[in-house]
Amino acid sequence: MTTHSPALRRQGDYGVDGDFGVISARWLALIVVAIVAGLIAFTVRNLVVGALVGAVLTGLIAIALVLFVGSYLRTTRVGKFEVWSRILGDLRLRGDEQVLDLGCGRGALLLMAAELLPRGRAVGIDLWQADQTGNNPDATRRNAEREGVADRVEVQTGDITRLPFADNTFDLIISNLVLHNLPSAADRRAALDEAVRVLRPGGRLAIADLLSTNRYRAHLRELGLTDVGRRNLGWRMWWGAPWFPTRLVTATKKT
Ligand SMILES: C[S@@+](CC[C@H](N)C(=O)[O-])C[C@H]1O[C@@H](n2cnc3c(N)ncnc32)[C@H](O)[C@@H]1O
Repeated sequence: MTTHSPALRRQGDYGVDGDFGVISARWLALIVVAIVAGLIAFTVRNLVVGALVGAVLTGLIAIALVLFVGSYLRTTRVGKFEVWSRILGDLRLRGDEQVLDLGCGRGALLLMAAELLPRGRAVGIDLWQADQTGNNPDATRRNAEREGVADRVEVQTGDITRLPFADNTFDLIISNLVLHNLPSAADRRAALDEAVRVLRPGGRLAIADLLSTNRYRAHLRELGLTDVGRRNLGWRMWWGAPWFPTRLVTATKKT
């Protein structure tokens, strides 16, 4: 049994998570920097002219914005890895499992899972939408090489609501911040139906996401899974503030 957790020091480049479909990450960064610079300029000006209330107000908004962005960046670059390293370690894999990562992106979870599978296989599937900077199959494969796990990693292009795998294929299905990107509740249910279909009896599911996780839990119970749980992943996975947390839904398919 593999009891250790994946290494926290990652060798790959995993980008930044976010919805960059309308405004690119680069433009978003420029806009935030411009707003913070403007707020600081206003604060200084207010101080100079003796408008103390205004200075406090603009100063506090600037600090809040910097804290929000700092928390968001820490989550996407560091916290996500800390939290998933723990989740994967706690699963106590044997090392020969078949693992599927739904919406693997550049491979943050996929490659940590692969580290725990010296005799197994880690498959990532993604549609490569603008929900993460630089996500594409080559970037994920390059990261697999850098992490030294390319021999056991497979990257596929496909939609998680129509999985191209046979029934009962995987021992473990993982996913991080993907289902909320699907356009409707029906799509999110379809993704869960598909995950359960390709999961082996006795197989486990661990899905982290924003919003709607109570519905995922209810739907997994409707599908007859057991040990269905849901928990808040804590400050390491706040997306800017405590009111944007990430929750983990776990379940087991009946044998
Ligand atoms: C925020 S990123 C998270 C990526 C990865 N799970 C991680 O934590 O680093 C969301 C990913 O979901 C993928 N995605 C969104 N809708 C999808 C769908 N219907 N099928 C497959 N992948 C999808 C996007 O292309 C993107 O790579």
